[in-house]
Amino acid sequence: MKKIVCDGYDELSRAAADIVAEQVSRKPNSVLGLATGSTPLGLYSELVRRQSAGEIDFSKVRSFNLDEYYPISKDHPQSYNYYMRENLFSKVSFASTRLPDGNTDDPQGECAKYDSEIEAAGGIDLQLLGIGINGHIGFNEPADSYSVATYLVKLTESTLAANSRFFANGETQPVSALTMGFGAIFSAKSILLLISGQNKAPIAKRLFQGKIHTDVPASLLLLHPNVTVVIDRAADGS
Ligand code: PGA
Repeated sequence: MKKIVCDGYDELSRAAADIVAEQVSRKPNSVLGLATGSTPLGLYSELVRRQSAGEIDFSKVRSFNLDEYYPISKDHPQSYNYYMRENLFSKVSFASTRLPDGNTDDPQGECAKYDSEIEAAGGIDLQLLGIGINGHIGFNEPADSYSVATYLVKLTESTLAANSRFFANGETQPVSALTMGFGAIFSAKSILLLISGQNKAPIAKRLFQGKIHTDVPASLLLLHPNVTVVIDRAADGS
């Protein structure tokens, strides 16, 4: 696991954009695995800026997102579909984009379809990840066992509490999600994990102990041969 420590969030976002830009310039038809949450927002605005400046071209890039709430409509402002349109897809033109369908009547069928589409695309070239304060990646929550396939997961209290800030009072927060499992994530040829902010320092510390903690899903990344962690000093405790 390679670690890049940045002074602050802006530097982290630029360092992450450098890695994405290098991937896309080396392989213009890359398959990117994308993530949502607060952490990648700076990266996405930097990518939009670089595209407007003609520094990067996404026109041949295909993307798959990690996860989506379930059930939720694509147009719900808290859906990850909406987030991706707002922050990236409406500003940067990709060859194709895909998120799990949070509105499907057949979640199992949708999950199986999602995995086959990723496989048909040749797997993911670069997977972007954030990390939850409980160590989740995507919505793979701490559990006794971990799914290889994309699946319907019940969210933990910790994740629901962490994400409740996005839902207005009285608005129903979905308690489940469709998430890539470890199969699709580990199919990625390289992984870029972003960790920012003091509230992530305890989980970052556990990750860097170099041990697989079964209650820290992100620690499985220690087994992947090509992971870069871009972390700011607040999260790194340095
Ligand atoms: P955050 O979420 O970037 O909003 O902290 C990360 C995650 O839960 O994976």
